[in-house]
Amino acid sequence: MTKLGVNIDHVATLREVRHAKEPDLVSAALLCEKAGADSIVAHLREDRRHIQERDLFLLKKAIKTKLNLEMSISPDIVKIACKLTPAQATLVPERRQELTTEGGLDVVANFKKIKQVCEKLKERAISVSLFIDPDKKQIEAAEKLGVKRIELHTGRYANAQNDSELKIYFKELKTAASYAANKGLDVSAGHGLDYKNTRAIVRIKTIEELNIGYAIVCRSVIVGLEQAVRQMKKLIENYH
Ligand code: PXP
Repeated sequence: MTKLGVNIDHVATLREVRHAKEPDLVSAALLCEKAGADSIVAHLREDRRHIQERDLFLLKKAIKTKLNLEMSISPDIVKIACKLTPAQATLVPERRQELTTEGGLDVVANFKKIKQVCEKLKERAISVSLFIDPDKKQIEAAEKLGVKRIELHTGRYANAQNDSELKIYFKELKTAASYAANKGLDVSAGHGLDYKNTRAIVRIKTIEELNIGYAIVCRSVIVGLEQAVRQMKKLIENYH
């Protein structure tokens, strides 16, 4: 069964708009786990707009599943990751002004820098994943780096404007996922996935984990977080 990682950044976004204590992030993560989340995902952004450093240490201590830290390759963030030692680190590109992570990491262009970061993280026994576009050259570069896992950026598929775009971007993801899986890489996918567009993605058997945040947190406002995660898990089961 395809695994579900729940990204709880936007629970922290709600807290940070008021610089308050609520909603409590650890409680949120534990509810996600209770509802069947297979991992908890959090992105420590350089501008700290949602997740804070302290959250990560509390999360790591409290959760029972895998903590997947999304992070840029900036030296300050790498230092924190090495101190935290999450089970997994997913390297993502980061621009301060962006609303969310736009586009995948350019592993081809930044090969040397990314390699150094991967080595540092691996020394601390942190498993590394690279968040990349569904592109053969990026997959080949990831393989060359020796990472075990990649996460395919589903943003283009999620933002498709019509059926023909949807078909093109779906095919792109499917082809990339089998290309990577054939090379022995574990394949995750995420970004912009919701209760509708996730159905088709679940059918791509070479994608073995989905990381979903925004849609789940949005639904949680209406039905509660536990129920929102349960509904996504059920959807994954139904369409698998
Ligand atoms: N995976 C990665 C690597 C991401 O950067 C994000 C966004 O933080 C997600 C998954 C989740 O995206 P969304 O919040 O749109 O579901």
